[in-house]
Amino acid sequence: MENHEVLQAAEAYVKAKLEKDSSGHDWWHIYRVVQTTRRIAAEEGADGFVCELAALLHDVADDKLSADPAAAERELRQWLDASGAPASATEHVLEIISTMSFKGGARPPMRTLEGRVVQDADRLDAIGATGISRVFAYSGWKGRPIHDPSVIVREQMTEEEYRSGNDTAINHFYEKLLKLKERMNTPYARKLAEERHRFMEQFLEQFYDEWEGKR
Ligand code: ADP
Ligand code: NI
Repeated sequence: MENHEVLQAAEAYVKAKLEKDSSGHDWWHIYRVVQTTRRIAAEEGADGFVCELAALLHDVADDKLSADPAAAERELRQWLDASGAPASATEHVLEIISTMSFKGGARPPMRTLEGRVVQDADRLDAIGATGISRVFAYSGWKGRPIHDPSVIVREQMTEEEYRSGNDTAINHFYEKLLKLKERMNTPYARKLAEERHRFMEQFLEQFYDEWEGKR
């Protein structure tokens, strides 16, 4: 099987999986991560096939998408084994995806350049104009407010306050999105992150001004 045929098959496999999903992890998130992955991989000199295959499959074994992530990972391995992808690529992609889906405690760092590239592309999709759109979509889905000036940032909340759902879309910028720029692995992704980061800062400035009727 040629590499491009494996990628086509992976795309069809992922689309079929995500059709059943309602958590907001839609195909278009995967699409954007693939586009950004290609761009970073080219700049950083990473293996394009491994990067793109991992980007396509990166969310299928995530616990947000499947009730049983271990079973989802076994299924993914079976799919890859049958896909005709070279065995070395299969092992590499599985390693990237399991590291990306790692939950709890200290997340292990990505061992390979290809892993760092795909992780960067996934994180870039959480910031910038796209990231802003996703925060509000996610918060709305959770029934949370856009903003509440009395809500303090999560670091200052007690566990009780946080679990009571006292969280807003705007607060998520401080909890996570504004920190992602510093977590980019590769120089090129950091460059892309800077522009997206500035865009979020401008957005917040304008938002607070409008909130107070200043603009
Ligand atoms: P990933 O695609 O990397 O798996 P997540 O599942 O963590 O990302 O989040 C999906 C999207 O929902 C992201 O854009 C993220 O910013 C947003 N999101 C996650 N948690 C919250 C939250 N508590 N409030 C608002 N948005 C959130
Ligand atoms: Ni993702």
